[in-house]
Amino acid sequence: MTLSELENMRRQCLEEVAGAEGSAAVESLRVKYVGRNGLIPALIKAMKDVPKEERPAFGKAIQAWRAETEEALAAKAGSSAEESVEADLTLPGRWFDLGVEHPLSRVIAESAAIFGKLGFTVADGPELENRFNNFTALNTPAHHPSMDRSDTFWFGEDCLLRTQTSPVQIRAMMGNRPPVRVICPGRTYRRDTTDATHSANFHQIEGLYVDTLPEKPVSLADLKSVLAYFAREMMGDGVTVRFRPHFFPFTEPSVEVDFSCHVCKGRGCGVCKQSGWIEVAGAGMVDPRVFEHVGYDPSKVSGYAFGFGVERIAMIKYGIPDIRWLYENDVRFLSQLA
Ligand code: PHE
Repeated sequence: MTLSELENMRRQCLEEVAGAEGSAAVESLRVKYVGRNGLIPALIKAMKDVPKEERPAFGKAIQAWRAETEEALAAKAGSSAEESVEADLTLPGRWFDLGVEHPLSRVIAESAAIFGKLGFTVADGPELENRFNNFTALNTPAHHPSMDRSDTFWFGEDCLLRTQTSPVQIRAMMGNRPPVRVICPGRTYRRDTTDATHSANFHQIEGLYVDTLPEKPVSLADLKSVLAYFAREMMGDGVTVRFRPHFFPFTEPSVEVDFSCHVCKGRGCGVCKQSGWIEVAGAGMVDPRVFEHVGYDPSKVSGYAFGFGVERIAMIKYGIPDIRWLYENDVRFLSQLA
């Protein structure tokens, strides 16, 4: 083997690579020249028969040839892949599945934005609560059925999955002096059997506004106006609110809150079960006993609290007939709400 023979082989090799068309041809040239049993490795092995003085020159020439060949093959491989994709218009497109915001997340985010405009900030609390925050401080009598093992998920004597977001009221008041103006969205748990309108875990948004007396008295009228504003912002213009007397241990007076049906505008339809109204929340003026429990002087503060169901709002806003659809993560369902 002489250097000029080597040069001839190099030239032929690069010509072949330059003329190769399609990825199969490129691959077979790679095998022929630089593959493990290809020509170039064979020449490198044969170097031992080259006279010692000539070896460095041969070595250099072969290494340079190998590098050139590999580069030329790589460039060919890249361009032939591009060409074949461009040529085959029947290949499926690239699919980037971004997903959509879950309706529950969306209702929570919209609620935070609506109440945010009224000066409410978002407070957080743990889902695993103690008896004091979930029941005692909320003035729940010891015999109340909600504390029963059949209604609440208990983990020992003093630890439970919160049955409502109301314990965050307690945390917010214990950690701050009035004024306190917070909403708390979060997951809650009850031993409900799951059916079309109930689930053992669901979401609530609690609201609390407490201010000082006598400077800033808070009234039921304030509560009503705030919830009416929320109803319009969330459901659209023309939706009004109705208060019905009710009982909660932690508010006095207590009310249940209905929105006028946004679908039939109160005339009666399937969504509102022909009543024209949809129940969405519990609310009321914070009971003085609750203020005592958190260390506020009931003669120096007043406030209201409300709590509504996120699923309930999502179901009526988007016309979802079955609560379970919200948890099944079926893309066919969720993508309709995009
Ligand atoms: N915590 C109550 C419930 O889960 C709702 C509520 C919140 C009522 C705040 C009054 C005030 O039913």
